[in-house]
Amino acid sequence: MVTRMVDLRSDTVTKPTEAMQAAMATAEVDDDVLGFDPTAFRLETEIAKIMGKEAALFVPSGTMGNLISVLVHCDIRGSEVILGDNSHIHIYENGGISTIGGVYPRPVKNNEDGTMDIDLIEASIRDQRGELFYPTTRLICLENSQANCGGRCLSVEYTNRVGELAKKHGLKLHIDGARLFNAATALHVPVHRLVQAADSVSVCLSKGLGAPVGSVIVGSKSFITKARILRKTLGGGMRQIGMLCAAALVALQENVGKLEGDHKKARTLADGLNDIKGLRVDINSVETNIIFIDIEESSSTTAAKLFKNLEERGVLVMQVNSSRLRGVLHHQVSASDVYYTLSCFQQAVKGVEQTENGN
Ligand SMILES: Cc1ncc(COP(=O)(O)O)c(C=O)c1O
Repeated sequence: MVTRMVDLRSDTVTKPTEAMQAAMATAEVDDDVLGFDPTAFRLETEIAKIMGKEAALFVPSGTMGNLISVLVHCDIRGSEVILGDNSHIHIYENGGISTIGGVYPRPVKNNEDGTMDIDLIEASIRDQRGELFYPTTRLICLENSQANCGGRCLSVEYTNRVGELAKKHGLKLHIDGARLFNAATALHVPVHRLVQAADSVSVCLSKGLGAPVGSVIVGSKSFITKARILRKTLGGGMRQIGMLCAAALVALQENVGKLEGDHKKARTLADGLNDIKGLRVDINSVETNIIFIDIEESSSTTAAKLFKNLEERGVLVMQVNSSRLRGVLHHQVSASDVYYTLSCFQQAVKGVEQTENGN
């Protein structure tokens, strides 16, 4: 019987803390579609300030935040967006920018560190002299931290260089900052410096920050005015959202400071896993709270078998493919949970091997 659970599936799995629940229960609310919810206003004002932008808008999810941002910047038919081939927008958002927005994606290879080569980005910008044939490049999207590259961080210098390139060609820059606070923490820079070059940013409240629901998009006042209309169009206008925003305000206060600890726990876990025969984690890629666990070819186990064995022991991870698992640290995983997880991995690998060898 499972006596202990450690949930490493994602940093989206956290439960609202008691302080969040209390804040939700007593939140001052009003109709936000009409623009009168005072707690939403407080959260949006606070996030706009932290991000160094003029205005902000609460949205139900990171996916909607990205979709709205792309659609605001690409409001002319035939628009094209340059984005990472391993980016969340490109892979995991149902192709919404195309199916809903009619925006054409121009994927550029993501390097292992989450960047795209600047010269490859520049080479992908359409020559306007070919407008009779080509779609028109209007936007570049970055992702920071880059989840599918293992939570790697894009530096201020890199982001500024992409921003300069965008400006030079009259393009906009959007940052999917679902885990922007993780990146800022890991890089030891204020959040606003990381997004100074961006015209818009979408930041998730319900990942590392631990709020139950929501994301916020930020940008200029005119960007947010257009975003508010699109949010309504997409069905994301909600009434008494102060209840959700109250929890997010607590998350900002309570949990930003815990991210560094999450990153340390990720490194401890990664180090320990590397000591287990048959498993490998690229330590250099563990910059924030995400780790990829590779199963060596020589091992008799597979990701599916290990996943199942771990699940039976109460350790939940995500299976990426036949030889890779993913674990994500968050504030509701303790240091002792990390050591428990390591012992479960050890036993699970052994358990699978024994089954395979028939003893
Ligand atoms: C990098 C990144 N961007 C965007 C999202 C979308 O967020 P949501 O699940 O709130 O739609 C995610 C979700 O995991 C993500 O990892």
